Amino acid sequence: MGSQKFLACFFLHFFLLLLVFRLSVGQGLRIGFYSTTCPNAEAIVKKSIDQVMAVAPSLAGPLLRMHFHDCFIRVNNLPHLVCGSGNVLGCDGSILLNSSTHQAEKDAIPNLSLRGYGTIDRVKSALEKECPGIVSCADVLAIVARDVVVATKGPYYEVETGRRDGRVSNLADANNLLPPFANITTLKLGFQARGLSVKDLVVLSGGHTIGTSHCSSFSNRLYDFSGKGETDTDPTLDPNYIIRLKTRCRSLSDTTTLVEMDPGSFKTFDTSYYALLPKRRGLFQSDAALLDDSETRAYVHEATTDGSSFFKDFGVSMVNMGRIGALTSSQGEIRRVCYNVNY
Ligand code: HEM
Ligand SMILES: *[C@@H]1O[C@H](CO)[C@@H](O)[C@H](O)[C@H]1NC(C)=O
Ligand SMILES: *[C@@H]1O[C@H](CO)[C@@H](O)[C@H](O)[C@H]1NC(C)=O
Ligand SMILES: *[C@@H]1O[C@H](CO)[C@@H](O)[C@H](O)[C@H]1NC(C)=O
Repeated sequence: MGSQKFLACFFLHFFLLLLVFRLSVGQGLRIGFYSTTCPNAEAIVKKSIDQVMAVAPSLAGPLLRMHFHDCFIRVNNLPHLVCGSGNVLGCDGSILLNSSTHQAEKDAIPNLSLRGYGTIDRVKSALEKECPGIVSCADVLAIVARDVVVATKGPYYEVETGRRDGRVSNLADANNLLPPFANITTLKLGFQARGLSVKDLVVLSGGHTIGTSHCSSFSNRLYDFSGKGETDTDPTLDPNYIIRLKTRCRSLSDTTTLVEMDPGSFKTFDTSYYALLPKRRGLFQSDAALLDDSETRAYVHEATTDGSSFFKDFGVSMVNMGRIGALTSSQGEIRRVCYNVNY
């Protein structure tokens, strides 16, 4: 390596470190950001969400997932950034933008999510009525995620606010969410690339304690798992559970049927997700993969014991996640409607 190239590389790495640092500290976010500009902001969100939950409790899952998607979308791997082609986005409300985004979710039929988008619009309208142009859509997603966790009997945690909304609307080409078939290496790298820890990975995966999944997100484990034919199933999945899942998901081509992700308790935010994993009843390969690493495996076992710290940890990790790529101060804008950038 020539010395000039070495220097260039050195500085790239230096700036990269700064960037990662910025990503991980979420500069400018704080608890109660709206306490003077819109003191009722969080109460308004909670009121709307409580109304929605009363009539459509199944929206809890999609609404929690939406904040996760917003934060995880298009944060390219570190090597890409070094090459200069990276584009860091994070919790900036981009997931809500119309046009490409509503169709860009390659991993799921956007049916349920679509209902979720309507809820966000409703919350945003309520906020605009009281405090026009003050509360960002990115913050709405973060507060809503907390409120649906509480509504499903999960932990209350303080949400940091002060995010601003991004103006990048074309995400179609850059949807690099972690896939449900990701192995533990890929999962750890994916979290690391966003400044999150292995602990955050195992704790946030606990979000799968609520909600439903389309068959298509896991049916590869039920049919022709390794290309040996129809009856070839994933050996890491409990055979009795496979039988049950097959009665719901009749073939690889089923893209519409929904299955409870945490059977029997999918409406309640609790630790039962972690109880299922060692029984080989994690629905996705990415769930099962948490048994393949000593740190995540230890956490899985600890999470179901008396005095488990899962509820407390979940709040901490959600705050960490909510800092990914957050825009603050004069960056971005406060959208007037969540589905369009301001003109
Ligand atoms: C670790 C990597 C993750 C992967 C690979 C993953 C993957 C998935 C997939 C494939 C689905 C089913 C989508 C469908 O077919 O409808 C799903 C659902 C869900 N995910 Fe994750 N997820 C991950 C992390 C998270 C995190 C961090 C959270 C939030 C803290 C979360 C919350 C949810 C929720 C609540 C649902 C249910 C959505 C509904 O009821 O419609 N996931 N996830
Ligand atoms: C944008 O999305 C919202 C739902 O969030 C929908 O009501 C509206 O009709 C959409 N607008 C356009 C122009 O597609
Ligand atoms: C959801 O999907 C079903 C079947 O694919 C379809 O009949 C229904 O109209 C969809 N609902 C919405 C709101 O798109
Ligand atoms: C994990 O998945 C990645 C990407 O598909 C693959 O390159 C890697 O070999 C896998 N690692 C293991 C240990 O299976």
